[in-house]
Amino acid sequence: MTNFVYIATSLDGYIADRDGKLDWLEDIPNPDQSDFGYEDFMKGIDAVLMGRITFEKALTFNHWPYEKPVFVVSTRLKKVPTEVEGKVTLLDGDLEQLAADMEARGFHHLYIDGGKTIQSFLKNDLIDVMIITTVPVLLGGGTRLFGDLIRPLKFRHQKTMVYNDFLVKSIYTRIR
Ligand SMILES: NC(=O)c1ccc[n+]([C@@H]2O[C@H](COP(=O)([O-])OP(=O)(O)OC[C@H]3O[C@@H](n4cnc5c(N)ncnc54)[C@H](OP(=O)(O)O)[C@@H]3O)[C@@H](O)[C@H]2O)c1
Repeated sequence: MTNFVYIATSLDGYIADRDGKLDWLEDIPNPDQSDFGYEDFMKGIDAVLMGRITFEKALTFNHWPYEKPVFVVSTRLKKVPTEVEGKVTLLDGDLEQLAADMEARGFHHLYIDGGKTIQSFLKNDLIDVMIITTVPVLLGGGTRLFGDLIRPLKFRHQKTMVYNDFLVKSIYTRIR
């Protein structure tokens, strides 16, 4: 099983501003209308596993942005909203067990999304690859990508791509 993080962060390590907004991702220079490798990444993913807050954000978009099955971790949500029924499954419980269950169901490559959710996975050493795109802005506060860990986790730098002298996308793989 391989668990991936694929996320955009500000220079100071935030994935959403203080109001939970993503406006700072909309000002990216993109003369070629590139997706910066997102579709290629998604082709290699079996399912997306995200936190409840990221899910609630995705529900506000004009259209549901995922073609792959989506699993949402939440202790509060008890019912999938009707507009995404059949596309979304709710999960709750021990993360290691959840990851093992997903593997047993044939989901070998998971895209893990949402700050607290990524942090929970990292605390359990369940992240294998991190693809992190840094946007050159200081947000000064907001939702953190990373949090405290019980122990250091080492990664190998695999590759870095620079887009339009603006975005810096780096791929890191876990060394175990
Ligand atoms: N920049 C980017 O590329 C990017 C990407 C994704 C998201 N975002 C932004 O990041 C923000 C969301 O991140 P976030 O850190 O606030 O929250 P999040 O990780 O999306 O969601 C956190 C929630 O997920 C549930 N959860 C997490 N771990 C769990 C576990 N082990 N078991 C059960 N439930 C668990 C809990 O929901 P309950 O409270 O229901 O238990 C928790 O409150 C949003 O503003 C979103 O737009 C940005």
